[in-house]
Amino acid sequence: MTRPSLVYSGIQPTAVMTIGNYFGAVKNWARLQYERECVYCVVDLHALTSPDAGGDLKHASREMFVSLLAAGIDPDRTTVYIQSTVPEQTELCWLLATLTSLGDLSRMTQFKEKSVLLRGGDSDDDGTFVSAGLLFYPVLQAADILAYRAGCVPVGQDQAQHLELSRGIARRFNSRFGFVFPEPETLLTQVPKVMSTADPTRKMSKSLGPRHYIGLFEEEASVRKKIRSAVTDSGVTPSGEVSPGIENLLTLLAACGEEDDARQMRADYFAGTLRYVDLKGRTADALVALTSEMRDRRADVLRREPDLDGRIMEMAARARAMAGETLGLAREKMGIFPPGRRTRGAK
Ligand code: TRP
Repeated sequence: MTRPSLVYSGIQPTAVMTIGNYFGAVKNWARLQYERECVYCVVDLHALTSPDAGGDLKHASREMFVSLLAAGIDPDRTTVYIQSTVPEQTELCWLLATLTSLGDLSRMTQFKEKSVLLRGGDSDDDGTFVSAGLLFYPVLQAADILAYRAGCVPVGQDQAQHLELSRGIARRFNSRFGFVFPEPETLLTQVPKVMSTADPTRKMSKSLGPRHYIGLFEEEASVRKKIRSAVTDSGVTPSGEVSPGIENLLTLLAACGEEDDARQMRADYFAGTLRYVDLKGRTADALVALTSEMRDRRADVLRREPDLDGRIMEMAARARAMAGETLGLAREKMGIFPPGRRTRGAK
């Protein structure tokens, strides 16, 4: 069964979900569940390509799973699972790798940026350790999507190139072995782009450090502190534009549902009457209301799901059934044997 309307997306397992993850992606994922069949993945195998993926990865994945449920992903409606629980995908990654051009992989912007960042890191001969996993990252991403024969992938613009590569791989497979994979479309939804509060010229990210992000479940005092100290004026802004810091606060205020206030305050800014403390106060109030609701919802999830790892395994079974069907088809078309059976007593 192909699923041209199936929605698929993935998120990195950082132990803390930020309001940037929420407004920029997960809130939209939650909405999509009521329009289409959706599958969402916590991509712990992708996280392994990051050199700081510590021994706490399992904890981070579990936390991200809980955060997704608290943020409104409904496990009774949607398959939400952890990537490493579905080995079929990793296997499909190999099959697809044989249809992927090395040149294409080495030209991926994210690969180039990350490998430059790594220079000076863990040592290899020339002082650099760039893993083949980093190069393979987009092949695994293609395998994620294609294993479910998904048609729509809600991601940001930064993933457009990876999606293009996934389509190319699907096309090559289909023309060489016969049709298995629909070409996944990028679903570009208008979502608020949340920037760091400490440096509003950079996208909010946990990796920038604690001053730069606000967690979706963060306590009131620390949310207020971060908003109070949020950078508002950073350098010169072309006339007719709002400074990046103010823009970010207005974005957050609107994203919390206070669009009218945000519109008014934007007008005040241009009229020269906006008091930054008022904007910060309103934004902090709105965020405190959000994060406190989210903390309640998180507590609800933990109460509702006393056997979290059991739930994770139940989701894995559902995902494996879907991915297994596709993998079986791909194996057959490619002319390889089915997996041998594992007998009891084998070491
Ligand atoms: N690379 C994506 C990111 O960094 C995460 C991801 C992994 C993903 N597999 C995916 C996104 C499949 C969409 C579909 O955001």
